Amino acid sequence: MTQLKDTYPLYLNNVAVQPNTDLVVTDKYTGDVAFRTALATPDIIDAGIDGAVAATEPMAQMASYERQDVLMHCVSRFKERFDELAYALCVEAGKPIKDSEGEVTRLIDTFRIAAEESVRMTGEVQPLDISPRARGYQGIWKRVPIGPCSFISPFNFPLNLAAHKIAPAIAVGCPFVMKPASKTPLGAIIMGEVLAETNLPKGAFSILPASRDGADLFTEDDRLKLLSFTGSPAVGWALKAKAGKKPVVLELGGNAAVIIDEDADLDDALERVIFGAFYQSGQSCIGVQRIIIHENVYDQFRDMLVAKTATLIAGDPKDRKTFVGPMISESEASRLDGWIQEAIKAGATLLVGGNREGAMLEATLLENVPRDTNAVREEAFGPLAILSKFSDFDEALAEVNDSKFGLQAGIFTRDLFKTLDAWDTLDVGGVVVNDVPSYRVDNMPYGGVKDSGLGREGIKFAMEDLTEIRNLVIRRT
Ligand code: SIN
Repeated sequence: MTQLKDTYPLYLNNVAVQPNTDLVVTDKYTGDVAFRTALATPDIIDAGIDGAVAATEPMAQMASYERQDVLMHCVSRFKERFDELAYALCVEAGKPIKDSEGEVTRLIDTFRIAAEESVRMTGEVQPLDISPRARGYQGIWKRVPIGPCSFISPFNFPLNLAAHKIAPAIAVGCPFVMKPASKTPLGAIIMGEVLAETNLPKGAFSILPASRDGADLFTEDDRLKLLSFTGSPAVGWALKAKAGKKPVVLELGGNAAVIIDEDADLDDALERVIFGAFYQSGQSCIGVQRIIIHENVYDQFRDMLVAKTATLIAGDPKDRKTFVGPMISESEASRLDGWIQEAIKAGATLLVGGNREGAMLEATLLENVPRDTNAVREEAFGPLAILSKFSDFDEALAEVNDSKFGLQAGIFTRDLFKTLDAWDTLDVGGVVVNDVPSYRVDNMPYGGVKDSGLGREGIKFAMEDLTEIRNLVIRRT
């Protein structure tokens, strides 16, 4: 039986230190104290940034095979510690154990992809003799690491969304300081423990749980050359405003939509939509929030969704039968409960779910929801999905785009031309056909437009953000 320790350190300049045990982390299902970790003070964060600055040159000088070795070490250690990592997620995030195992599998994929990409960072030879004044000139460009980076990771994928910053940083040779989410710091701390087993140069990494008040340095300090944040749109855009000259990557949220066209295989779509809407209690930036269904199959698909939702087993995330666990906190569950009640008052029909006990909110479906309610317009980030009906495919595409967000969208159709129309028309970072917007493989470009963010993750794409192009011009004399 896997057990967690009572206390965990932070990692400052590659080394475990335990200055205090001030951060109390609860088991999100029982509400009991699960463990304590060290909390970084501004002095400690400052020392981490100093260390990252000092590590800039040594990191940039590592050979690509050395960076690859570090990443491959992580892959094998994560495989060895699979059960412990999954259990940690299950406790600190309240993530059902099967979803927790799925996340550890993705963590391993993410580091493996980074290990592969770390030896593929290429540039280009460019003929410059495009006009008489450039005769005899040629150029070569390559990528160089951008320098010390600041990473802030969210609670909903404590391992894999931290990995989407850490692994590409190592792949290109950028030192970093990371602030994991205070509610779920353990995933990143265990990654720190594994990185500390490698020979990364001193200062290459610091994993620093910190309170929100103490965390300004992660955003504002000019010694840091890039900020990459994953979390809520409100926080992300506010951080960007304080980040000064450094480039900012924002992986934010959305109110993702899926279209069910009249030719969709409804049995297949049902399984996927239920998963997309309710896995890990809907706490994914690409969780299905809006289900837009063709009028000819609306009644049938609605009844299928309602029947299936009613069978989902809710409860203890450590139980392998559980599909819907707690939300991250009672206050988050209460916030979404309020949005559901507000939508019902505004005329929506509750189809299934809608009850709450503490942080446990039932998987809930609504229809006839006025479009100006929070439940439709804002990011639910919980187990709520809203059904609506369309008659014309262009109308459905317009409904998907009627959002301030644009992360991913899903379409169930067998029609190639509708697929291509959707790909052209939808104002999102990615379109997924015959699956839900919640679908993600860790090497694909992932990120949003509009309020959903800036930049792309997906290792190769993150590596571009983490590097600068440095050009060389040669005049042949
Ligand atoms: C997210 O919630 O931003 C990421 C979703 C995923 O990686 O599956």
